Amino acid sequence: MNEYSDKVIEHFQNPRNVGFIEDANGIGEIGDTDCGDFMKVFIKVENDILTDVKYQIRGCPASIACASAMTELAIGKNLDDALMLNDMDIVDALDGLPEFKIHCSVLSAS
Ligand code: FES
Repeated sequence: MNEYSDKVIEHFQNPRNVGFIEDANGIGEIGDTDCGDFMKVFIKVENDILTDVKYQIRGCPASIACASAMTELAIGKNLDDALMLNDMDIVDALDGLPEFKIHCSVLSAS
């Protein structure tokens, strides 16, 4: 696969859940030292359920699509299940990524 799927393009053009959560229960930051991409994630947890996930990102189109898809996968899950999400879950949710962009899903899975 060498091209972006329709889902990747759609998430990149209309990223879900961008922003921040003022009263977040948790905030995480991660960057890719190779490409310089960076994201900050905010989570809201109520009764062990992720009720909201938002992010701010400076990254490539694939990393933005992955962050968007990650929020859709994570919201509504309990913390244990959300922690089990991995990079390939995100790639699958986007109907795949070009081989050379698979690494971009790691930011969102971390
Ligand atoms: Fe850096 Fe995509 S090139 S995350």
